[in-house]
Amino acid sequence: MVSYVVFGRGSFAQLDEILTPNRRQDAPMIFLVDHFFENKTFTSRIPVRGKDKVVFADVTHEPKTSYVDKIAQQLKDEFGTVSGIIGIGGGSVMDLAKAVSLMMNNPGSSADYQGWDLVKKPGVYKAGIPTLSGTGAEVSRTTVLTGPTKKLGMNSDFTPFDQIILDPELTTNIPANQRFYTGMDCYIHCIESLNGTYLNEFSKSYGEKALQLCQQVFIQKNKWDDESDEQLMMASYAGGMSIAYSQVGIAHAVSYGLSYLLGTKHGVGNCIVFDKLEEFYPEGVREFKMMVEKNEIEIPQHITRGLTDAQFDTMIDVSMGMKPLWENALGTGWEKIMTRDKLRALYELL
Ligand SMILES: NC(=O)c1ccc[n+]([C@@H]2O[C@H](COP(=O)([O-])OP(=O)(O)OC[C@H]3O[C@@H](n4cnc5c(N)ncnc54)[C@H](O)[C@@H]3O)[C@@H](O)[C@H]2O)c1
Ligand SMILES: [Fe+2]
Repeated sequence: MVSYVVFGRGSFAQLDEILTPNRRQDAPMIFLVDHFFENKTFTSRIPVRGKDKVVFADVTHEPKTSYVDKIAQQLKDEFGTVSGIIGIGGGSVMDLAKAVSLMMNNPGSSADYQGWDLVKKPGVYKAGIPTLSGTGAEVSRTTVLTGPTKKLGMNSDFTPFDQIILDPELTTNIPANQRFYTGMDCYIHCIESLNGTYLNEFSKSYGEKALQLCQQVFIQKNKWDDESDEQLMMASYAGGMSIAYSQVGIAHAVSYGLSYLLGTKHGVGNCIVFDKLEEFYPEGVREFKMMVEKNEIEIPQHITRGLTDAQFDTMIDVSMGMKPLWENALGTGWEKIMTRDKLRALYELL
């Protein structure tokens, strides 16, 4: 779990004070910042001291192992060692920050650690500061990466942040579509966790709270306000805690295939898939469609039209590889329920 959590509007102002005791001699803090903030006044609030460096992360594509390795190598070449990595951005930047921190202290390539519990050594100090709410990357024990052969996280006890700062002010004025897609990642985490076979009281307690907050902001309220940013930020946290002790399910397993082949982004990809999962999550999908309509969001359609058999096979292989997700969703006999043919038919619907 994350060791230290600060929540509150304006709490970003405490970052300098929070980092001070974590500085190691003159080794710098590295601020890995979402490129959205490049040339924005926000960057002047980053507490840069001594040899500290601000690195703008290009998140046009979601994080790749090659990008993680490149950043870590550059930091090693330039500084030898660093005091810490501070990720400021959406899920992509938070995942990058976690992975770079681990790769500062573990040999080889981040691709060697895609899987469960393969990371053997703690990384350098790492802090996460979300600027988009929904992924739960701020609390999870994984960092999702696309590698040479798979899209899979570095799931390990060393992966969670040492510190997070949850400041809802940083999520003001996100374009409505992006806010919805990433917010739905949280909603889908809740539905997949609460309807999964891995469910337990820990996951259920957090999942129910996160679900309730999502329903408040996307269904009950008629206008987006500061309170909505606060509610969605806490929903993301609780949703992340829920899956930390259970698993996600079918929307994630299928959208990983889309992302691997087509580069579809996590949030929108989950929406594209979840929209077609009535058979598995009838209540959740009904409510999801209501939220899409109420918030006037477009869910892309027909994105797999015209793909070749080989391309469908690639997506099916990636998706079928996510065994814990399928087992959580459908139980130990999942392979008998979700055959390759059935999965192909599902992909053709998207
Ligand atoms: N580690 C985990 O547990 C976990 C869980 C779910 C998803 N993820 C990962 O998270 C990523 C998706 O994250 P995401 O949905 O937050 O999107 P993202 O981080 O990819 O960002 C989406 C877009 O929003 C922009 N952006 C960020 N903050 C903004 C702000 N305040 N205002 C305006 N624009 C802003 C970014 O520059 C980018 O263009 C994927 O890579 C996914 O694999 C990780
Ligand atoms: Fe997700």
